[in-house]
Amino acid sequence: MISHTLDHAMFGLFSTHALHLADKHGVFTHLIQEGPADPAGIARSRQIDAETLERLLLVLAAVSVVERDDEGTYRLAPELVPALDRRSPRYLGSFVRHLVTNTTGQLHQLDAYLTQGKAAVDAELPSPFDTIYKDEAATEAFLEAMWQLSFGVSGELVRLAELDGVRTLVDVGGASGAFAVAALRSYPELNVTVFDLPQVGPFLERTREAEGSGDRLGFVPGDFFADALPRAECLSFGYILSDWDDETCVELLTKAYDACANGGRVLLMERLFDEAGGPLATAAMNLSMHVETQGRHRTASEYTGLLEKSGFVDCSVHRSTWDKHLVVGRKP
Ligand SMILES: C[S@@+](CC[C@H](N)C(=O)[O-])C[C@H]1O[C@@H](n2cnc3c(N)ncnc32)[C@H](O)[C@@H]1O
Repeated sequence: MISHTLDHAMFGLFSTHALHLADKHGVFTHLIQEGPADPAGIARSRQIDAETLERLLLVLAAVSVVERDDEGTYRLAPELVPALDRRSPRYLGSFVRHLVTNTTGQLHQLDAYLTQGKAAVDAELPSPFDTIYKDEAATEAFLEAMWQLSFGVSGELVRLAELDGVRTLVDVGGASGAFAVAALRSYPELNVTVFDLPQVGPFLERTREAEGSGDRLGFVPGDFFADALPRAECLSFGYILSDWDDETCVELLTKAYDACANGGRVLLMERLFDEAGGPLATAAMNLSMHVETQGRHRTASEYTGLLEKSGFVDCSVHRSTWDKHLVVGRKP
């Protein structure tokens, strides 16, 4: 038991890479579309090396991502198909690619953080979004990963938010519009403005065209530290506060309070730590936030505390069936 636990902890590096490579080279797509197959058949069809593939599949079988029978035929664990099928709203491949191609290269900083402290190490580095948006390809890859993390759950979050009767919503740091699109689809009377850094504009425009949202989806370029937020009945922050420390969160929420109509609401959409410090995905992403941003994940009561400090009242927590949840505060 102890050794099994330690094996999983120690060899996670290999399963993350195996997961990413099997996705990247269409191995999961092959298993989904063609059904159970052996490594040689998959390798032939995907034009990849059979021996390397077999070694990757053995790791994926050991962590139960795929199932292997006695003849060496592999099939996908059925419950994982939605997360591994590129056509599914629950597809996580782009996020795993972000972990491998981006996060992994930054994890070495943790050692320096331990010995020198984060502030001293980060003082030498560009600010998080200067790195994330260093060129157009990096911007596109990041926004695609964010879309995949946020779009599927957004359908549920907009319903939990009960936006009937709301006419204007500003999605602060709304990226390429995953939450905005879900809100527009569910509430025909709603208009949504995404407020985000100028680099994001062309990607939001692509979404607007693809969705045919017309004037109902607007974009205001800006910097939420330098600029006031556009006024609205409702302002939303999806995976924004987890990028920043508590003091900065209160600064942003105070701006949201100023921009929010009386009787309006602010929506926070975030992973939530449970009281025991789990689950694993939140604990791991909390470490990722540490190296990639200046933020962290929090419990529901830590978020309601930040809302109350910024003037919001009647705070409530609404859990989705995914790992992104909703915390709401009302402006009196
Ligand atoms: C982690 S992403 C979250 C995207 C989206 N809200 C979601 O839930 O998937 C953070 C977003 O904040 C935006 N952002 C970062 N710094 C910003 C700033 N100073 N002003 C405006 N937007 C900013 C980024 O461009 C990015 O779209």
